[in-house]
Amino acid sequence: MKIEGAKRVALRGQLRLPGDKSISHRALILGAIARGVSRVRNFLPSNDCLATLECVRALGVDIQRSGDHLLLQGVGLEGLRKPEATLNCQGSATTMRLLAGLLAGQLFPSTLDGNPSLRKRPMRRIIKPLQRMGASVVAENGELPPLAIRGGRLWAIDHQLRVASAQVKSAILLAGLYAEGRTIVREPVPTRDHTERLLHLMGADIESSKGNVTLRSSPLRAIELSIPGDISSAAFLVVAACSLPGSEIILSKVGVNPTRTGLLETLKRMGAEIEVENVKQEGNEPVADLIVKSADLRGVEVGGGIIPRLIDELPILAVAATQAEGVTTVRDASELRVKESDRIAIIVKELRKMGAQMEERTDGFIVEGPTRLYGARLESHGDHRLAMALAVAALVAEGESFIAGGDCADDSFPRFEETLKALLVSSQSTPPA
Ligand code: S3P
Repeated sequence: MKIEGAKRVALRGQLRLPGDKSISHRALILGAIARGVSRVRNFLPSNDCLATLECVRALGVDIQRSGDHLLLQGVGLEGLRKPEATLNCQGSATTMRLLAGLLAGQLFPSTLDGNPSLRKRPMRRIIKPLQRMGASVVAENGELPPLAIRGGRLWAIDHQLRVASAQVKSAILLAGLYAEGRTIVREPVPTRDHTERLLHLMGADIESSKGNVTLRSSPLRAIELSIPGDISSAAFLVVAACSLPGSEIILSKVGVNPTRTGLLETLKRMGAEIEVENVKQEGNEPVADLIVKSADLRGVEVGGGIIPRLIDELPILAVAATQAEGVTTVRDASELRVKESDRIAIIVKELRKMGAQMEERTDGFIVEGPTRLYGARLESHGDHRLAMALAVAALVAEGESFIAGGDCADDSFPRFEETLKALLVSSQSTPPA
């Protein structure tokens, strides 16, 4: 990806973002085991979600896709079929961890595998609870994919999560749909609750209170769902608009589930001009229009319970911090080291190439700003969120940057580069009325 540093360029315009990635995965998996036909609009046709779609098809579910529309012929809880081959999760940990939970409850054996990047991601966090429920899950050193799963009759567990992880919570809940008794998941801090919201919408016997989720096995009914725009994709455009003087953008129908809005809250604390308007409920999720104008930012401290609410947005927050006056400190985010790449080491290394004043910490990073960034030859390390964060840094910088492996932005945000470039206008032009 080649990005021209945008002197005297601003972001202006209005658009609707592709669907939320987390909800798209869940709509496929839960729609597959519901009774009857589910219709999904604004599904995210990104590499990661398409990996889930192919795996679900391989389990015998008929799915018709036309662009971002899906028609899923749900087969009911007991209707999945033994796949003929290993299920390929590509680079998507969400696919692997959620499907592991689903497959733990099936009477047939199956194997989940993925690309070299996914083969490095930790799986013990799901293996242990699924084994406690009675499934056999075998992995390399008890930790790394491929996962050989032999499911069957499960019993419910009461599980305290050690790592705050929505993927682990969701894997246990999916297995809990097949377990005898009451499955309880206790969270140290709240993580995204899309699985719970969708299960509730589909009529499952599920309750959430004070950080505990309780579920009893129950049939699911098919749904009609319109998926909100992905706030994690919005994040890149929001930070670009905050940082380029003269910008004003409107992002329509973005998901503003409170378990996902940590970046908006943090940017507001930094002085950003972000308005959240027309809030309404769609598919049991709050959606809203975001209006973002450029503003002078100041450094902040970020840590503790907010981290899971902005975990995927920390690389782009680092870019915002390079443009903010003062010091920004991010703590309690060591989970960032086991994402698609070691996001702490890499964002620090790459932004430093552009002149950022940054230091790595075991559980986060420190940024001193504001700094003028300079175009450089950058590397995405195959990580979509790093590719997009670096593209925004490159836009704010002086001169031209080249991001090697920038195409992986497609893993979560198809047409990211075109979308970003389509919003660019000369900052001397008149703002919209
Ligand atoms: C996700 C949960 C988060 C997030 C990931 C998507 C999900 O991971 O980083 O991009 O859809 O459940 P963890 O649950 O591992 O924190």
